[in-house]
Amino acid sequence: MNDKVVVITGANAGIGKAAAIKFGNEGYTVVMACRNLERSKIAQQEIIEATKNPQIDLLQLDISSFKSIHQFSTVLKDKYPKLDILIHNAAYLNHGEKNYLLSKDGIELSFATNTLGPFLLTRQLVGMLEKSDDARVLHACTTNIRHFFDPKRKIEFDNLQGEFKDERLFNAYKMYGDTKMALLMMTFKMAEELKEHRISVNAVQISAIKLSRETIEKFQSGWKFAARIQNVFSAPRESMADTYFHICTSEEFKSVTGKFINDKRKVMEPSHYSNGLAQDIKQLMDQNVYPKYADNPENIERVWDLCVSMTSNPVSRV
Ligand SMILES: NC(=O)c1ccc[n+]([C@@H]2O[C@H](COP(=O)([O-])OP(=O)(O)OC[C@H]3O[C@@H](n4cnc5c(N)ncnc54)[C@H](OP(=O)(O)O)[C@@H]3O)[C@@H](O)[C@H]2O)c1
Repeated sequence: MNDKVVVITGANAGIGKAAAIKFGNEGYTVVMACRNLERSKIAQQEIIEATKNPQIDLLQLDISSFKSIHQFSTVLKDKYPKLDILIHNAAYLNHGEKNYLLSKDGIELSFATNTLGPFLLTRQLVGMLEKSDDARVLHACTTNIRHFFDPKRKIEFDNLQGEFKDERLFNAYKMYGDTKMALLMMTFKMAEELKEHRISVNAVQISAIKLSRETIEKFQSGWKFAARIQNVFSAPRESMADTYFHICTSEEFKSVTGKFINDKRKVMEPSHYSNGLAQDIKQLMDQNVYPKYADNPENIERVWDLCVSMTSNPVSRV
């Protein structure tokens, strides 16, 4: 056992559960931050048995709800004196979902879950993270943001609180990409803000990793088949769990902050490619670059301002 504490959101399934097993095997105290306690208790028992580590804790967190984030933070602070690693792994993507859904706080559900929740939770836990001598925060991002290589692609900033929910066609996959792009941009700014607190903040680009049966069951019917086929060619969850572990614990990444890291564990750079078909193809193939959109200071400020204003003035619908 070591004395390090890691919080992993969505640790009851998929990559989050594999990461909980990895950290558990390495002797960490693991706090599984999960929304459904009944389901998650089964996963907790499985992880304790697999790792022989009794320090696998389970606390309730619905990362899409500001009230739940506040409650979770209070309980965590009461139970643990410090926090070393915070992994924002939980995410919402219901493939094929046609309806624009709002969170309890009146915010588009994927934006609330994938961008605002991580923003608010980290800010709630800065005091605990500061007490660690090597505090690291990691955001689970995705290759989906590569759609922003298309210069016409923009985040739908004007439709995050249901403004056009009945007028515009809702595309769950596109909204997911918007929320993960916003998460990446928030990573860059948060890393700057937290430097003085000696907390590092990075994002990892995840490509195709095997989806769990439970996740596929949630998809709309046609998508279930496609997901099962994709699973055949996808990497095992354990490979990404190992990458989470490496970024959050290794000497190599100890002083790295504000970076986007790919699944080969390489720090990526904003794209340097110019216009033209040949350049576009090279850019798409190059796994070491990400869209310039993410590096645009105006876009970053816009995302940051939204995160600050939406989490400080929530429209509570609880
Ligand atoms: N798998 C891939 O190919 C892939 C590719 C790119 C990026 N990623 C990213 O990698 C991360 C993990 O993906 P995965 O494939 O392992 O997903 P997954 O198997 O679907 O697991 C998602 C986890 O998030 C939890 N969750 C969802 N909404 C939540 C909420 N409001 N509050 C708390 N927990 C919530 C789920 O809990 P419930 O069980 O309660 O639903 C589940 O534990 C995600 O951030 C995803 O976007 C995955």
